[in-house]
Amino acid sequence: MTKKIFPAGFFWGASTASHQVEGGTVNQWSEWELAHASDLAKTSTERLSKSTPDWPSVKAQASDPNNYVSGKGVDHYRRFEEDFDIARKLQLNAFRFGIEWSRIEPEQGVWDEDAIAHYHTYIAELKERGIEPFLNLWHWTMPTWFTELGGLEKRKNLVHWRRFVQKIGDEYGSELKYVITLNEPNVYAVFGYVTGEWVPEKKSFYTCMKVYINLVYAHRQAYKIFKKTKPSIQIGIAAQLANIQAKRPHNVLDEFATAWMRFAWNWWFLNRIRKQQDFVGFNYYFTDYYKGFKPDNPGAPKNDLGWYMEPEGLYPLLVRVWAHYKTPIIITENGVADSTDQYRQWWIEETIVAMERAMSEGVDVRGYFHWSLLDNFEWKFGWWPKFGLVHVDREHGMKRTIRPSAIWYARKIKSLKRGDLPTREL
Ligand code: BGC
Repeated sequence: MTKKIFPAGFFWGASTASHQVEGGTVNQWSEWELAHASDLAKTSTERLSKSTPDWPSVKAQASDPNNYVSGKGVDHYRRFEEDFDIARKLQLNAFRFGIEWSRIEPEQGVWDEDAIAHYHTYIAELKERGIEPFLNLWHWTMPTWFTELGGLEKRKNLVHWRRFVQKIGDEYGSELKYVITLNEPNVYAVFGYVTGEWVPEKKSFYTCMKVYINLVYAHRQAYKIFKKTKPSIQIGIAAQLANIQAKRPHNVLDEFATAWMRFAWNWWFLNRIRKQQDFVGFNYYFTDYYKGFKPDNPGAPKNDLGWYMEPEGLYPLLVRVWAHYKTPIIITENGVADSTDQYRQWWIEETIVAMERAMSEGVDVRGYFHWSLLDNFEWKFGWWPKFGLVHVDREHGMKRTIRPSAIWYARKIKSLKRGDLPTREL
């Protein structure tokens, strides 16, 4: 069965983002971390104890201010070759990474040649190992000179974005086949500008919409610039899509809320860039059941962050995405915060089954990127949630240890590539 489903060139990948792993990044997020670390630590119990399933084991880390500082990251900026060796060992043939704008252009209009050279080497080292690079331009972090000008709140600031994109196109275009412009514009706009829990902590629906619309322009402009620089390049975004369902399937209110949420959260942005995407890239973490306008999810199973887990929810979502856009799909992120590695294998297995089901019905899925290769800095949560296929011990020389689920995943990929080994015999 599986043999026929996944084609030979299917991308089995993992995803990362520069700020979450590199170490030493200086941008609007790193500044925000330094300003908020002690507060976040002090308020951790009141913020997190109820929603975190195993709070006693998390408490010490979550109440330590160091948890909230990305700092040295997992030193991926220096250890990328070691990490790519691991990726290859894990049978991965694709890798999504972020290029850090604040490194490339630390001051307005000034390019950092060392940083530019670094990413040339980085891409070359991936290719050397037979791993297809998927370069991601924007994963929420920006140089402070840009955010001080008002960042994405002002349309006219996109002139700086275009200059950056052109530079990336000129430098790396010839080395790349795939580019992802934006990561989860909806999450950034809502957390930064509606709930105000992320930098720049604003609570204004009006500004949120301005930013969101500017991100539509940012994508379209990047698409145009890249296509002009290299017509064959394949471009998409990494949207955050949820499998949104009505809690009570025949309840009018639940049905209405579901339709509205699907439109507002999932389709609004993608509809606007319909003509400027060669693939629909999306990140899948959530299935949400709506009772009226309130999510009302089952109480179990939950991951370490307290997020309800329904990996098989990927199947109906894939079918819906395909029905909407009839464009090849790449799952650009998908994973689970699981420090004890009790759920990850199950999650990946269910995910593969969900892809198989959708693909067997003609949904054109081209690749799957697990989040993440390495344990990484989880934004406002900091370091304690563990998403890595590979555990990183930040206290002991950043030692990398491959988790058992990743070993299973590697064998599974190998068998799917060969097409001859049912899962149970692994
Ligand atoms: C983001 C990642 C993040 C992951 C897990 C995604 O929404 O793109 O940066 O680490 O979720 O929280």
